[in-house]
Amino acid sequence: MPWLKLLHIAALVIWCGALLYLPALLLHSLQLRKDAGFAQGTPPMPRFFYNSIATPAALVAIASGTLLFLLHGLLGGWLILKLGAVLLMVAAHGCFGWLILRLEMGIFKGVKAASLCALILALMGMFGVLGFVLSKPLEWS
Ligand code: HEM
Repeated sequence: MPWLKLLHIAALVIWCGALLYLPALLLHSLQLRKDAGFAQGTPPMPRFFYNSIATPAALVAIASGTLLFLLHGLLGGWLILKLGAVLLMVAAHGCFGWLILRLEMGIFKGVKAASLCALILALMGMFGVLGFVLSKPLEWS
């Protein structure tokens, strides 16, 4: 089922791109909010991008990866290590969602620092996943 792996790779490329774009989007919206003050609400783009692109891509990447593993029985130490790295990406994803909510509530304190920390977490996850899935250490089969 090469189409399943193709779907997996397409979804993960969009998810990785989204995790790299979200901090830039958050910092830009933070600046707009600060400049405009309370006269204007938060730009709708961060929530739209998060709900309509980043989260669906994450769900499709995880679902298609799980299907790949279940249908082909591709179990190995590499997959467990990989899932650990995927958890870092999921944590970063969740953190960006939390920061969008804070921005919408007008709480600016710590948004910049937390966005950069979440970006570093996402990068560690991405490089970890790619390292483990492409080198497949601890392969059992
Ligand atoms: C719960 C989440 C995930 C699961 C269960 C999962 C599982 C899998 C499985 C079983 C394969 C097939 C491996 C093979 O054919 O040898 C695969 C391929 C791949 N996965 Fe994932 N994956 C997940 C998330 C991700 C994420 C988030 C990324 C990237 C950031 C990623 C990157 C890749 C790549 C690049 C391949 C192709 C590797 C190859 O062809 O050898 N996966 N994944």
